[in-house]
Amino acid sequence: MAFSPNHTGNVREERENLLLDQSGRPTWTDIDLTALLHNLGQVYQFLHPSQRVMAVVKADAYGHGAVPVSKALRDAGIIDFAVATLEEARALRRAGIDTNLLVLGGCFPGQEEVFIRESLMPALLDMDTAERLNAVAVRLRQQISVHLKVDTGMGRVGFSPQQLRFALPRLKGMAGLVIHGLMSHLACADEPTSGISASQQQRFLEVIDLVRASGINPVELHLSNSAGIAARYCRECTLVRPGIMLYGGLPGDAFASTLDLRPVMHLRSCVAQLRQLPAGSGISYGHSFRADRPIKVAVLPVGYADGYNRRLSNVGKAIVRGNLVPVVGRVCMDWIMVDVSAVADVAIGDSVTLLGSAQGLTISADAMAAQLDTISYEVFCRIAARVPRRYLPSA
Ligand SMILES: Cc1ncc(COP(=O)(O)O)c(C=O)c1O
Repeated sequence: MAFSPNHTGNVREERENLLLDQSGRPTWTDIDLTALLHNLGQVYQFLHPSQRVMAVVKADAYGHGAVPVSKALRDAGIIDFAVATLEEARALRRAGIDTNLLVLGGCFPGQEEVFIRESLMPALLDMDTAERLNAVAVRLRQQISVHLKVDTGMGRVGFSPQQLRFALPRLKGMAGLVIHGLMSHLACADEPTSGISASQQQRFLEVIDLVRASGINPVELHLSNSAGIAARYCRECTLVRPGIMLYGGLPGDAFASTLDLRPVMHLRSCVAQLRQLPAGSGISYGHSFRADRPIKVAVLPVGYADGYNRRLSNVGKAIVRGNLVPVVGRVCMDWIMVDVSAVADVAIGDSVTLLGSAQGLTISADAMAAQLDTISYEVFCRIAARVPRRYLPSA
């Protein structure tokens, strides 16, 4: 492989070599940008005309590729994006995303100048950061716009409403800071019956009044993630922050009947070998599967190193020529085996879908997440960097 024998020490060349290697790889993801825009349309049906979408493209757009996803969304009119880290934001800037960019993870010590230079907006999570940002902005004779984050019940980061009461006069006096946005985050919006979102919304509305009464008037107000959007929280807000919905994951079981979402990511591989094994054969490490009849097995060059979870051993499913077939034996680092005894014309080189849709069948990230006792977010984020992303253009 290009990385070891041809090691040149030239990072760019190595990356290009890797890309060359990847382009021939028989395991990849198709990223369907038409589906992304369809899902964006689903978000809009819950908004009133003055509300804008701040697309959450952190964690490489939940594994879908932040740059191509952001460009497709920008071409569809989105001007607000949110990422988690400074590095993620800089990657978008380098790719030419020059619109509003919020860094949800805030600004860590030493990052202040880069935030200012690259016109990035941090979520403002505490007073120390406010002091640091203000000091650097004043020294540079500039201002930095921030989104003040209030913890209305998430129990994670941000100012508590009580802390804010004391902080507001100090924040107002900081010449280098512009409180451009006021934001909070919902903890339980995926459970519409819990009542917690309603109380968070109420607290957020009180905080908006408190901030305005201090003489600070944030231009942007935002609270809702995908589940909050689908439950129509915060009609007063100017922005909503969908993530999972854009990528076709349900924000909660309760929304299955109200949302028409399409999978954006399709994980595919190919039949590398076909094996005809006699009854009694054990398959893969530990022989956790033993054939009780003669079996035809397709071997696929994909494994847990690609993000195909090892816990799908003997329970995962694959789509082969319009058939849903079971994974047999343990998932290996680079290989899995599927039982294709019932698939008549299966051939070496056939494409196989492990996540997403093919031939009218779908293995949804939500279904896979349920098998893994996790959420679709993690299924997407774990698809490894070594799996090439191929972008199907938006129609
Ligand atoms: C602060 C914040 N806002 C919005 C989102 C998007 O949430 P979802 O993917 O559920 O729409 C996230 C995701 O974790 C988040 O951390």
